Amino acid sequence: MTGPGAGAGVEPTGSAVLAGRRALVTGGAGALGSVIARRLAGAGADVAVLDLDEAGAGEVCRDVARLGRRTLPIGVDLTDHAAVQAAAGRVLTTWGGVDVLVNGAGGGVVAPFAEMSAETWHAMMSRNLDSVYHVTRAVLPAMLEQRFGRIVNIASVAAVSGGRLVRGATAYAAAKAGVVGLTKALAVEVAEHGVTVNALAPGAQATPGRERDTEERRAALLAQIPTRLLGEPEHLAEAVLFLASPAAVNVTGVILPLDGGHSI
Ligand SMILES: NC(=O)c1ccc[n+]([C@@H]2O[C@H](COP(=O)([O-])OP(=O)(O)OC[C@H]3O[C@@H](n4cnc5c(N)ncnc54)[C@H](O)[C@@H]3O)[C@@H](O)[C@H]2O)c1
Repeated sequence: MTGPGAGAGVEPTGSAVLAGRRALVTGGAGALGSVIARRLAGAGADVAVLDLDEAGAGEVCRDVARLGRRTLPIGVDLTDHAAVQAAAGRVLTTWGGVDVLVNGAGGGVVAPFAEMSAETWHAMMSRNLDSVYHVTRAVLPAMLEQRFGRIVNIASVAAVSGGRLVRGATAYAAAKAGVVGLTKALAVEVAEHGVTVNALAPGAQATPGRERDTEERRAALLAQIPTRLLGEPEHLAEAVLFLASPAAVNVTGVILPLDGGHSI
């Protein structure tokens, strides 16, 4: 890069900005995770995918391999601490480390709070918050050891706006708010060791699930979004790529809304 704005010592954000980096994407078989995994591979990273959906993980990893990158699909329940230690351990021993961790697995059910069972509450915490703990706990020591790491958590606008886009999202919003708190506290804890920790807070994304929306539902949704646009998974993947890139070396503890202004 030349001319005004060229930063001395800042590496270019060109097509192979993650060349030689090893990425682990959880939920990589999902609508957003699969786009993120392919984008990181397109930028030069090797990509391991951890997901309950083993076949889906395999499919995404075949695309990663077609790009000439190393890849590792692992079917695992991320709510199971021991299973996650084993799965992440496989990635760490096979590749000798992990440089980029994207905690993308999550999602869940909506239920009116007054009727919510304890099972539903705990399942939502387990899927959306405990899973982030299990995977990050497994990978972080190696990042600290190598004095390099980029952790990107996929939270949700629900964490900051109370889930106004979907009624009945209390457990989901609470779990994602937990992810936001974890992101900020861990960012402070590991900042001196070359590890950054950031989170995205997406609003409604144009994922296949949205195609089931009625015209009425879609109009009501867009009416709550100042830009009147759903998020594009490809744009979200670009944000992940930036946070994983060398240019983001001094960006940590950030919760980046990708919500068309919904949370303003
Ligand atoms: N799609 C949206 O509009 C939106 C908006 C805000 C936040 N998010 C968040 O983005 C992330 C990805 O969402 P998505 O739309 O791609 O959802 P998705 O359902 O398409 O993908 C989620 C993936 O996580 C995996 N997963 C879920 N529980 C798991 C478990 N216990 N163990 C292992 N894997 C598990 C699923 O198998 C799936 O492949 C989620 O954390 C979600 O909460 C999505």
